[in-house]
Amino acid sequence: MIRKARQDDVRFIHKLLAHYGGQGDLLARSLTDLYEFLRDFVIAEDDEGQAVGACALHLCWEDLCEIRSLAVLPERGGEGWGTKLVEACCSEAVTLGFNKIFALTYRPSFFARFDFKQVDKQLLPNKIWADCINCVKFPDCDEIAMLLEL
Ligand SMILES: CC(C)(COP(=O)(O)OP(=O)(O)OC[C@H]1O[C@@H](n2cnc3c(N)ncnc32)[C@H](O)[C@@H]1OP(=O)(O)O)[C@@H](O)C(=O)NCCC(=O)NCCS
Repeated sequence: MIRKARQDDVRFIHKLLAHYGGQGDLLARSLTDLYEFLRDFVIAEDDEGQAVGACALHLCWEDLCEIRSLAVLPERGGEGWGTKLVEACCSEAVTLGFNKIFALTYRPSFFARFDFKQVDKQLLPNKIWADCINCVKFPDCDEIAMLLEL
């Protein structure tokens, strides 16, 4: 199932993002950051109650929100958890009245499965870049912007 993240998921999310961050697949996040933005996160949990993946929906601007920090345990890949996490975040975005969702990613083909289209990063509003200033890759971001318009 997919459920909202809780305080006791933070260590799991931190370790998961650190793993993929170390490989350069996504950006690792600090514990401070994760506690602060915990309400953005959903967790994929298997039938045994084990957390197997995480994903964040960050509300950015007017009708725009962002899918961030999508990751599934390497040994649990290919079981459909990534799909469920993205679908849950898109569903929450709709519930909250947002109709544009973007992701900055090195995996554009994964997001293309959900009808996200590649867009020029410069077309995203300036507000987005406020968060980027703290990123280790700023200002040489090589992630690809994918946008879903609902
Ligand atoms: C990307 C990721 C979340 C996918 O999770 P997952 O649970 O394996 O995804 P699913 O099982 O739902 O996969 C669905 C489909 O996407 C495909 N897929 C998986 N990873 C993919 C990738 N990196 N690029 C393109 N397609 C991918 C799978 O082959 C599968 O295809 P199929 O249904 O035809 O077999 C996972 O591979 C991961 O954690 N990667 C490292 C972190 C990362 O790159 N995050 C995304 C950047 S924000």
